[in-house]
Amino acid sequence: MKVNIKTDSITKISTDVITLGVDDKNQIIDSSKLDKKSVSYLNNILVLGDLSEMLGSSRVVHGDHFYSKVLLIRIGNPKKLSPTQFYSAILSITNELKSLQFKTLLLPINQFINSSLSAHAVAEYSVRGLIDATYSVNSLKTLNKGKKNIFQTTIHYDGDELSQVKSGIKHGEAVMVGGNLTKDLGNLPPNICTPKYLASVATKLGKEYKFKVNILDQKKIEKFKMGSFLAVAKGSREEPRFITMEHNKGPKNQKPIVLVGKGITFDAGGISIKPSADMDEMKYDMGGAASVMGVMKTVGILNLPLNIIAIIPSCENLPDGLAVKPGDIVTSMSGQTIEILNTDAEGRLILCDALTYAERYKPETVIDVATLTGACVIGLGHHATGLFSNYDPLATELEEAGIRALDKAWKMPLWEEYQPQLNSNFADMANIGGRAGGSITAACFLSRFAKNFNWAHLDIAGTAWKSGKEKGSTGRPVPLLSQFLIKRAGK
Ligand code: BES
Ligand code: MN
Ligand code: ZN
Repeated sequence: MKVNIKTDSITKISTDVITLGVDDKNQIIDSSKLDKKSVSYLNNILVLGDLSEMLGSSRVVHGDHFYSKVLLIRIGNPKKLSPTQFYSAILSITNELKSLQFKTLLLPINQFINSSLSAHAVAEYSVRGLIDATYSVNSLKTLNKGKKNIFQTTIHYDGDELSQVKSGIKHGEAVMVGGNLTKDLGNLPPNICTPKYLASVATKLGKEYKFKVNILDQKKIEKFKMGSFLAVAKGSREEPRFITMEHNKGPKNQKPIVLVGKGITFDAGGISIKPSADMDEMKYDMGGAASVMGVMKTVGILNLPLNIIAIIPSCENLPDGLAVKPGDIVTSMSGQTIEILNTDAEGRLILCDALTYAERYKPETVIDVATLTGACVIGLGHHATGLFSNYDPLATELEEAGIRALDKAWKMPLWEEYQPQLNSNFADMANIGGRAGGSITAACFLSRFAKNFNWAHLDIAGTAWKSGKEKGSTGRPVPLLSQFLIKRAGK
């Protein structure tokens, strides 16, 4: 997808398709600078009432004397258009375009700008929506691969916030290029996307964006005494990897932001094995790792002036003769002992050692991202990421970034009252806390390893993946995290 920006008089720009919004009075919005004859032709067609009144409905009109194809989109009252409504409008425009033959698209954006949709936001959401909806799985199908949509988009803007529009386009592109890496990794089959594969992607990112990359193999992980992570890894013949990436572009004395991603490349549950139905979907149990890698790509593209560290513990969770068993007690890198009552609660077991490892960076903030609990999907569904934090200002910052990025997170409690559910008769803690409040007790478990820094945990079990006909990775929460970092960078 190529996007450029033009500010000339709109009638001077030639294009195969132009997208024009239609208001609640069935008129073309912001038509004053368009070709007069063209506008009256379109308004006459609109009077016939063929464009549904539903927001986001679209229709293609051919044979306008000025443009060969006009894509009309129902916007309703442009002053009341909300960011979410605008984003879904862009997605439906992009989907409608898929059935057209064309090479160039003209998207005039003034028509969408209002008090809740700044020029920057309209530009950013436009680019994001266009890239999001034209994503195609890098599939391994040998037949009917499906053709890629390749077209050139020109954003037309007429006003005095040109630099904001430009940065909106830049941010939108960077977020989606990162998000597409996340989608690609999440969609790969687990026999290809192994811990070693993730390590190779990190090495490649390191070369591309000058990150310092370090990969620990089994032996080195043992040296760090990550007994909890190693307990999970034991059940698979595929070796674990502990991956770190460092982007040190902030002031030397600035403490880093650490992002930790759960990298279980396949979660069969271990000895506490999962039912077979839909087990294939557990290939996306590395969605946290994939989103951390995606965000690092965005960070690299924008070259944000921050110190950011990515940490990814990665292994498989399989049943095996050597696999960890319910009742086993392991010693985590922190020294705390854990009674493993359910081997399917493995995410927290690999993350706790990664959180302890994070201490060596003397972090300002640590955020972990994980497809951690089915309970989070039951509680929040597929719209909101579960947000937990031991530091309220950080939770607020992440909530706001989610709203701004149209990638929302909802704050959940992390109260002391829940902690006793993790009591064990034999060790410092159990790895599960019962069915009640399952996503909260999982977060409580992690909090015991995050006492020395400001920390937030994002449970993306419901938001990182779509099931059913559109099965695949969503690329979330790359927009949220990127927005958080872009804001921190003061951009
Ligand atoms: N990876 C799963 C969580 C999950 C479930 C992600 C559904 C996406 C969709 C995690 O490792 C897991 O198995 N969690 C268990 C924890 C339980 C044993 C306490 C769960 O949620 O059932
Ligand atoms: Mn599991
Ligand atoms: Zn898991």
